[in-house]
Amino acid sequence: MKNDGSSPLLLGIESSCDDTSAAVVARDALRSNVVSSQRVHAGFGGVVPELASRAHQRLIVPVVEAALEEAGVTRADLDAVAVTYGPGLAGSLLVGLSFAKAFAFGLGVPLVGVNHLEGHIYSVFIEPPAPPFPYLCLVVSGGHTELVLVEEGFRHTRLGRTRDDAAGEAFDKVAKLLGLGYPGGPEIDRLAATGDPAFRTFPRTRLPGFDFSFSGIKTSVLYYLNKFSEEERAALLTNRLPDLAAAFQQAVVDMLIDPLRRAVRETGARHVAVVGGVSANTALRAAAETLGREEGFGLYMPPLAYCMDNAAMIAVTGRFKLEAGLTSPLTLTAEPGLALR
Ligand code: KG4
Ligand code: ZN
Repeated sequence: MKNDGSSPLLLGIESSCDDTSAAVVARDALRSNVVSSQRVHAGFGGVVPELASRAHQRLIVPVVEAALEEAGVTRADLDAVAVTYGPGLAGSLLVGLSFAKAFAFGLGVPLVGVNHLEGHIYSVFIEPPAPPFPYLCLVVSGGHTELVLVEEGFRHTRLGRTRDDAAGEAFDKVAKLLGLGYPGGPEIDRLAATGDPAFRTFPRTRLPGFDFSFSGIKTSVLYYLNKFSEEERAALLTNRLPDLAAAFQQAVVDMLIDPLRRAVRETGARHVAVVGGVSANTALRAAAETLGREEGFGLYMPPLAYCMDNAAMIAVTGRFKLEAGLTSPLTLTAEPGLALR
């Protein structure tokens, strides 16, 4: 090992979507986590892949340097470089991956490729208390909604997934219908805090097994808004926006919590993690806590700073993989459609 402290010391890099992030982690603790959320997409109502890739190119060097500086280490102290190689946007993944490969090669240290979903799944290990294995993990982000049984040794069994939109995608699309900016999740969360969820009961989609579906709720909100004349709609969006946000949010939370409850009962899970961007949602966190009390399981959710995409979760997952001897060749390629294994 290169550093003489609590080695190994890992640099983690994340660039799968529109956040450029770098983090340094040691065995005992996270040393730094720098996230630069790209502002270039705000006016487009979503992420523009070409702009994201260019912004990553601009940001990757300063972000990595900031992470090293904040951690109080130099590149020579690093023992390995962990990086997201999928799933995500091809052009975005390539920037982080190419940088990580060159960095690892130049330093003569191992490269550790990390699946972005694994990053979210192990984000509950960034700060204690960490769950014991096995645990049931609900991954709710802008690109994914999956229910996964996580066992020791990187064994993942998918119990359910969304058949169409991801939960975060539903938040973002409905936010757009409500005239809010991107990403819409945090905006809806903020508005819903003062709204009445009973304002309207949007229909909940319930599928057999533990699968999810969120395209119906988006359409329900659209049809509801289209019932009104333009003036009425404008008045509704001016006067009842918090109520609409709260009613929609409650529907999404119910559609996440219901399959989770059934999965907990069926698997007898004693420990449950809720991770990913949507796990920052106030109502979802509260509902997961209530469910935990009702069903008697231990609940683990990352602190808000580690719900959305970040390199800390990639570095922590990379540390587990390194400890298990799971390093990657320098020929590792970006896999935009990478599934959880
Ligand atoms: O995990 P993440 O940063 O990126 C992906 O891997 O997709 O998740 C981003 C998603 C976006 O859809 C965003 O609207 C949603 O997480 N999100 C939220 C909240 N904060 C972020 N959704 C609901 N409530 C929030 N507080
Ligand atoms: Zn993510």
